[in-house]
Amino acid sequence: MRSLCAGAVHQLPLLVVLVVTVLSVPASALVASGRRGQARRLVGATPAETLSTVSQERCHLACHQRAGCRSFNFHPGTGHCQVFTVTACDSSSYIVEPADGWTFYDVVDDLSAESGQTLWSQEACVRDGRCRESCLRRLGQGCRHTQQCQPLVTGVTNCSELVCSCSNAYWRYNETLCMPRYTTFFTDGQSWVWKKIVNGMCSTDFRIKSTGTVQVGVFEAYTHYTGRYILKISQTNIYVYRYEYGVSSQHLGTVSKTLETDSRFVRINFNWCSGQLRVSKGLGQTTLFSWNDASPLQPKYLAVRSSGRTAGYFRFAGDLVDPWFGDWSLDRVYSIPRDTMVARRRHKQDFWVEFECRIKRDCNWMAREQTIWHNSNIWKVIIGGWDNTHSAIHRHVSSVGWQSYSHTATPAILSATELRRFRIHFSPQAIRVYRDNQTEPFMAHQVGAPFTINYDGPHMCCNVENVDFRLAPFDAGWGYEGGFRWGENLVD
Ligand SMILES: *[C@@H]1O[C@H](CO)[C@@H](O)[C@H](O)[C@H]1NC(C)=O
Ligand SMILES: *[C@@H]1O[C@H](CO)[C@@H](O)[C@H](O)[C@H]1NC(C)=O
Ligand SMILES: *[C@@H]1O[C@H](CO)[C@@H](O)[C@H](O)[C@H]1NC(C)=O
Repeated sequence: MRSLCAGAVHQLPLLVVLVVTVLSVPASALVASGRRGQARRLVGATPAETLSTVSQERCHLACHQRAGCRSFNFHPGTGHCQVFTVTACDSSSYIVEPADGWTFYDVVDDLSAESGQTLWSQEACVRDGRCRESCLRRLGQGCRHTQQCQPLVTGVTNCSELVCSCSNAYWRYNETLCMPRYTTFFTDGQSWVWKKIVNGMCSTDFRIKSTGTVQVGVFEAYTHYTGRYILKISQTNIYVYRYEYGVSSQHLGTVSKTLETDSRFVRINFNWCSGQLRVSKGLGQTTLFSWNDASPLQPKYLAVRSSGRTAGYFRFAGDLVDPWFGDWSLDRVYSIPRDTMVARRRHKQDFWVEFECRIKRDCNWMAREQTIWHNSNIWKVIIGGWDNTHSAIHRHVSSVGWQSYSHTATPAILSATELRRFRIHFSPQAIRVYRDNQTEPFMAHQVGAPFTINYDGPHMCCNVENVDFRLAPFDAGWGYEGGFRWGENLVD
């Protein structure tokens, strides 16, 4: 034991020499800046050392000589000097407050870089001495000033009760992103709009408006073919269902209630936490429906629809994102379940769409005049329909119905396992559909009487499997990068 210790001791001088060598390289002088500390001092922290009746140079030296000195307060009138091993943003209980005659000095690595700090010209620094990059905060972290929260957070944030939070009109997606609450999703009377549930949300506050019946469902997977709880809400009733795919379908109850969703947004609260289904009109209002599921479903997606071919307007409190949200790759795949269309506004009448499709049959692209399904003028380009044997261009004419054009044999044009590329050229004169990068269309239709295309997008009619679309090349107009969010911005 002894000899081992001795051995260790013998190695020490060598280490000391190494350290001394490093230290003997001229260390940069400690720089303390009082540029933002005039008539201020740091309070709330315990000084590591306190001196009185000293000069400013002596106070500076006291900081220099103390290992880990990060800041000091100095009062030239009294010669008071308080040396700290902490600085303004190390804790939200430290405050740089106005104090006559005092100056707060912050130790900085590089005086010339000081004014390049994010907060340098902002009130948080100018008035409150919170200048360093280390003063910046993410959501949920302690703060004193809203400006500490803003640089790292996307969306509107606020330092509220000493914590960076999303502002009231926003919800928190993660530590750096606030998203707006109660944006309006539009449904067209036919197609579903899907969202992914995030943050473990199991109770949602929403508002709906529709002259018809709307459905709000929460699904265990991103498909209709899964366990789900569904609310069907009409002007006078709320019907509650539980479906276990392939096992059971239960109508759990009907609430009779005059809702008047046709004339105004009606607020509903729907809770399914641990299978405890609760429905109330408004938040904290009388529960209209209550039922406990013995084998609770665990929904991960939410989908809404207005049926009866009427428009639906939905506003949810938050915790919902597009199903592909968070995938920032340019070759991301947009998967779309049955009876679903993903639409966006189209401002041109002559345009190309380019995409790849993976599905065993029925890869459709729709272009429409109106948001609403019923009675709208619609183009539907069907690729690999009729069980992957034919393709066609269908047109829906207001008050007339569907007409079929260019019915073309295209055996095995689609694949269930491989993405196949297509291009469609829409123009007021013609619709031409191309395979891959071929220069000749495999299907074309001369347009007799064009209508204005205001909305277009991929559509899945009728398969159990979701259709997978990939935009090739990637088109930011279909991504969050270009402001796209499913079901939003479709109506002014
Ligand atoms: C910011 O937080 C304060 C204090 O909590 C609160 O009064 C104010 O309404 C919030 N502002 C916004 C825009 O959320
Ligand atoms: C929060 O989510 C956004 C969107 O996916 C992402 O860009 C960002 O990096 C996330 N922030 C953190 C801290 O993970
Ligand atoms: C067309 O696509 C094929 C494969 O999909 C590729 O090999 C070929 O180089 C492409 N031709 C042109 C002219 O881009």
